[in-house]
Amino acid sequence: MKKLVSLLLSVAMVAVLLVGCGAGGASGGKKVGVSMPTRDLQRWNQDGANMEKELKAAGYEVDLQYASNDVQTQVSQIENMISNGCSVVVIAAVEGSSLGEALDMAKKANIPVIAYDRLIMNSDAVSYYATFDNYKVGVAQGQFVIDTLDLKNAAGPFNIEFTAGDPGDNNAGFFFNGAYDTVKEYVESGKLNVVSGQKTFDEVATPTWGSDVAQSRAENILSSYYADGTELDVWLCSNDSTALGVTNALKANYNGKYPVITGQDCDIENTKNMIDGKQSMSVFKDTRTLASQVVKMVGQILKGEKVDVNDEKTYNNGIKVVPSFLCEPTVCTADNYKEILIDSGYYTEDQLK
Ligand code: BGC
Repeated sequence: MKKLVSLLLSVAMVAVLLVGCGAGGASGGKKVGVSMPTRDLQRWNQDGANMEKELKAAGYEVDLQYASNDVQTQVSQIENMISNGCSVVVIAAVEGSSLGEALDMAKKANIPVIAYDRLIMNSDAVSYYATFDNYKVGVAQGQFVIDTLDLKNAAGPFNIEFTAGDPGDNNAGFFFNGAYDTVKEYVESGKLNVVSGQKTFDEVATPTWGSDVAQSRAENILSSYYADGTELDVWLCSNDSTALGVTNALKANYNGKYPVITGQDCDIENTKNMIDGKQSMSVFKDTRTLASQVVKMVGQILKGEKVDVNDEKTYNNGIKVVPSFLCEPTVCTADNYKEILIDSGYYTEDQLK
């Protein structure tokens, strides 16, 4: 009898302990590692801050690190996250194919990895991918050019140049292909004339996505092909950091006259440029939406629930198709930025002055 009572007591104690742990929050106090590529670009600071805020609100501890755009730094930061007890690691890779050692470690330790915004390539250690629809970002840029120049009806020809992103970032090809595929018929018919002749991804890429890199290529193109007064109508740039470089090159070399310039991210400097008429559009990818989606994924993974994905065919990382959740991008211009960026609380009016 005594034995039975003590057995019942032990069972009751274990039950109390289990309930007690659960009471600590749905998260059970787990730690999540968030590895971001760099503080140099505004968007990653916002991504990191949003992720940290949302994860903490969901009851998780957060280990947020920035890798100064350096692969080796990112590898050791991720390794530390794993040895310091993170249960899931969320990674926006500096370079999609170079995280091998850290990913092996995650796999051995059974730690799920979520690729954030940029796909992690050539690894089976990546469990899920959350991003905006990268191809659609490019399509939106191309369509903007078509609509703004009224390419269907206008006689043209119009002169165009392209600037794409970092070849080490799997997104860069999607952005460029989305844009190029959209305007291709007009390039082929000659209504859009690429004066420099540079129209393959490799020719127009911007290693590191650096504004300075994009600026010097733009300066070369302007002095080689436009110095004689040849009119430039469009510079299709994949994102805001490259658009900024191109705009700076134009400021100095092109009598302050701005063609249609596209971008992506709605960075503050670029939004100011849109308001000033120096950049025509930017594709807005609300980092709050992506962060919420990833926090949801983390919760579903840790609770062993079915993880929400909406694309299971597009993102093959060379080893497997990574189940993905793609968020919707939005076109932002000087006409709708107030509604999209200010009314939604993304920026304050003062930040854009
Ligand atoms: C992101 C873009 C960003 C670019 C440069 C890409 O992977 O999707 O939003 O502009 O990296 O950081």
